[in-house]
Amino acid sequence: MSGLLTLRGLSRPVLGDLLDSAERYGKQLEGRDKESSELAGVTVTTVFFEPSTRTLLSFQKAAAHLGAHVMSFNPEVSSLEKGESLRDTVLTLSALGSDLLVVRHGGVGVPGLVARWTGLPVVNAGDGRGEHPTQTLADALTMRKHFGALEGLRMGLVGDIRNSRVARGHLWALPTLGVDVTLIGPRSLLPVANPWGVRIETDLDSALEGLDVVYLLRVQRERGAAAGFPSVSAYASRFGLTQTRLSRLHPSAVIMHPGPINRGVEICDAAADGPRSLILEQVANGVPIRMAVLAAAMGAE
Ligand code: NCD
Repeated sequence: MSGLLTLRGLSRPVLGDLLDSAERYGKQLEGRDKESSELAGVTVTTVFFEPSTRTLLSFQKAAAHLGAHVMSFNPEVSSLEKGESLRDTVLTLSALGSDLLVVRHGGVGVPGLVARWTGLPVVNAGDGRGEHPTQTLADALTMRKHFGALEGLRMGLVGDIRNSRVARGHLWALPTLGVDVTLIGPRSLLPVANPWGVRIETDLDSALEGLDVVYLLRVQRERGAAAGFPSVSAYASRFGLTQTRLSRLHPSAVIMHPGPINRGVEICDAAADGPRSLILEQVANGVPIRMAVLAAAMGAE
């Protein structure tokens, strides 16, 4: 594997190997000796054009645990402000000795362009509405650890599916891993096409009880999603995981969200902070999965 731009087309064994490798790294992180030298001498550069907390920091931490040098490019204080183009910027990062780029950008397909321009392995850390492959893998790892297996799990992706790169990554990979995915949202926030052939529902209440995993998505206001919905309270009452809905979940069901969460909109406090919430486990699993992806992208695994 050279870089990771998309999960589309990856086979079950390839996805399974990444999850297995992440589990091994997870065990390593729990032990006393957390560091390895697998990527010693390798320079990993993070190139983030959109805000990030967990994705950026977990990539940096993952690279550090593998013994890599980490450079971090910040567009706001860079020569982009002086008119340098994106292509010249990434060629500069390559000339500075980057061996692998981790790219987040608002434009769909930009990580692929960067890979073409530089010839370097690129890991997609979120491209607009495109995909967010490592979030999907972190979530698959979280579910596999919690339930023991992915095959047959019934997952509802709830909310702004149309604008969600997280949902798109899930749709390309989770059915391959045996997860039964249903999309649940208002028509204005559902995808225009359904190339995955998954079930689609517009009523959360009728779909809720049959789910093992309720996966909530943030309404992507920055991508124009609010236009399709009259008000935050109208959204919360139809698609938010409220206290009432929480009490109707299957006894073993869990709640997931990629973060950042908007409390009182897609999720109530009791759901976010309660015992069914895997939200912080998803964050924690972001580190070993990114170790697995970086190692694989550099041919170390
Ligand atoms: C998501 C993203 O940026 O795609 N967050 C994340 O990386 N964990 C989801 C979001 O912003 O809603």
